[in-house]
Amino acid sequence: MTVCYESMPRKIENEIDDEYYDSLQKYSTLYRILLSRPYLTETTFSKWNRIDLKLVNELGLTLAHLQKKNCWLEIDCRLLVEKNGEFKLCTEYQIHCRPLQHDAWEFNTNSGIAGFHHDTEGDFEYMITAVDEGMLLNDKHDCYIQIIPTCKSKQLIQAFPLVIGPIMIKEQSIVNTWNQDDTLVSLDIFHAYYVENDSFMLIKENWELGTPGKVWDSALVISQLFFDKIKSDSSQFKHRGILDLSAGTGCVGLLMALLYKQDKSNLPRITMTDLPEALDLIYQNRAYNRLESYTHVQPLRWGNRSDVQRLLKKGPIHTIIASDVIYEPASFPKLVKTLEWLSEAVKDIDIFLGYKRRGLGREDEQRFFDICAEKFIVNVLPIEANHKDWIIGNGFSNMFEETGVNVYQLVPK
Ligand SMILES: C[S@@+](CC[C@H](N)C(=O)[O-])C[C@H]1O[C@@H](n2cnc3c(N)ncnc32)[C@H](O)[C@@H]1O
Repeated sequence: MTVCYESMPRKIENEIDDEYYDSLQKYSTLYRILLSRPYLTETTFSKWNRIDLKLVNELGLTLAHLQKKNCWLEIDCRLLVEKNGEFKLCTEYQIHCRPLQHDAWEFNTNSGIAGFHHDTEGDFEYMITAVDEGMLLNDKHDCYIQIIPTCKSKQLIQAFPLVIGPIMIKEQSIVNTWNQDDTLVSLDIFHAYYVENDSFMLIKENWELGTPGKVWDSALVISQLFFDKIKSDSSQFKHRGILDLSAGTGCVGLLMALLYKQDKSNLPRITMTDLPEALDLIYQNRAYNRLESYTHVQPLRWGNRSDVQRLLKKGPIHTIIASDVIYEPASFPKLVKTLEWLSEAVKDIDIFLGYKRRGLGREDEQRFFDICAEKFIVNVLPIEANHKDWIIGNGFSNMFEETGVNVYQLVPK
């Protein structure tokens, strides 16, 4: 069993027992497809390349015994390219995908399908060809490969598609197949939000960073919630101050900014904050999606009054989004104090908290809401069950229910 411990505040490595493991797995119905080996960052047309994958939940836990036995997850691929600062479906090249071809020298590699078959590790091969075969490769072309579960009824596992890249397509003669040094391989991974008109937002993840380095289930639910809100009435946030507090990858604030990029007259002032050491990934994701002019980034440590004052100097905050910040009991008073300071300037501030029960005990959970209740009225937000357009791609029955994420709205008393 491979376990990533950085996100488990309540137990340490040698205390992980089956019961605790099961409790952490309870709401893990939305898995992440990740890499188990680096991929080559250069290829040529018509060349098959191997990709090795693993399936984990948001905590980094691999499939438990029974899930592994029942696992059947076939994947397909599509190509994304950057055009005029936007990630789009590629129309000039096509990608083909097949199960890994059996290699006589390696006995464990052939899963029979492209994807995962009775295992938490999976694999496939891909090949890129030009749609117009007479096309000449004059320039270098960078592509991103999105690895998506197919919608076959046999699928028993649901997974958030992975994106890898950029992968450069070169002339056959230029690619040096012998020189497999570090410059030709990568472990860079992204997830994509489907925004509209075949355009995507790419969010880079860095699991080595720990909690700020990945998109948590709560962020997916909150992203969907705000996507729906903006789609139904984009003027509701016009010129308002929006804070994505402890933004991690920045996916929520950046998604909002991307939606307003097409609708500049309603643009709110969007700020993403986190611990100083966590900001670099937000800067990277902002740059990938060319959203520098639409967002602000700054450090904000919970319980640090001068960080809050520095933020408020730039303008009042009307909406706070705090996704998956309730997990460390020692930080609860500082976190709630921060929300209180931020609400001092605007009395009708809206605060949205995304929370998913994982390792936190009931008593600690209650303690957090008791501290909140001293200053705020806490409401559970009803979430619409009938949904069709998922930003993480269709093929999900209900992201809201399956992730076990609750969204709370806090109203100052
Ligand atoms: C579980 S992650 C959630 C990230 C992101 N909001 C999401 O849902 O994907 C928790 C976030 O809280 C941040 N955090 C932890 N302690 C903090 C503190 N004392 N002050 C500010 N942010 C903190 C982490 O850096 C991390 O980005």
